[in-house]
Amino acid sequence: MNNISIAVQGGAGEDSEFIKSHQSGYKKGLEDAVNTGYKILKGGGSALDAVENAVRSLEDNPLFNSGRGSALNNKGEVEMDASIMDGKKNNAGAVSMVRNVKNPVTLARFIMENTSHVFLSGAGALEIAKEEDLALEGDSYFITEHQVEEFIKDRKQDDYNAILKKRIHGTVGAVALDKAGNLAAATSTGGTPNCLDGRIGDSCVIGAGCYANNSSCAVSGTGDGELLIINVIAYSIAFYMELKNCSLQDACDYVIHQRNMDVEGDIGVIAVDTRGNLGVCFNSERMHRAWKNNEEKITVKIYK
Ligand code: GLY
Repeated sequence: MNNISIAVQGGAGEDSEFIKSHQSGYKKGLEDAVNTGYKILKGGGSALDAVENAVRSLEDNPLFNSGRGSALNNKGEVEMDASIMDGKKNNAGAVSMVRNVKNPVTLARFIMENTSHVFLSGAGALEIAKEEDLALEGDSYFITEHQVEEFIKDRKQDDYNAILKKRIHGTVGAVALDKAGNLAAATSTGGTPNCLDGRIGDSCVIGAGCYANNSSCAVSGTGDGELLIINVIAYSIAFYMELKNCSLQDACDYVIHQRNMDVEGDIGVIAVDTRGNLGVCFNSERMHRAWKNNEEKITVKIYK
């Protein structure tokens, strides 16, 4: 059998009491997402289908900051970002600031496959979702008790600048290699709690929080979105690997621990290459992650 491989991530950053006390739920969510994608790959399905469906499963899981369970912005509202990239066709789709779309990753894929555009935002993206009958939900579907608590806790602080500098975030993502040797990546997020209305993070920015190219690897990023955008993290890993002809893990380690060793914030990635080798790297206290290669047992981890 040709190699198949899938990895998922559920966010990198600081630890918290909430995370500590919900470890088994997080692990189960990561495991479900890997199994969803792996089943597709094992049945001969595409890497694109695998990453889309793995991310959908995390978007539907209220523990993760994407889809249902998204962080609330400074107006107490949910705006979501997502992207997907096809390593075979070198094509991508992305959405930012979308509301009410149950699975933003599916909208991103629709844009990639059915429009001449890569990136749509806000009302225009929502209009396409409505026209295409993609699943929509009311505002309350997306808002969980945990995210309301985070929103209120932050706002009790006097210093709004301190709130904006807080390193609380979350993302979900998946990377996969299918039997045909094709790579794909997808990333989705509700952004950062109490962020400014209209803020766009890395998860929808191709090359920052998502990248796939059959000539190197597929990468899904997480952490402080602004840092992933400024330092073009996902593309840097793919380009470094191609340029240096090094292993995927070496490329991930170089980009995060050397090239960006001085950044003040969290960066994490999961990645897979065309042979099914995985790259996993983060500079934070934890990164929710899981993977499965061929018939190997699934691995699920939160801490180092
Ligand atoms: N990494 C997710 C975000 O910053 O929006």
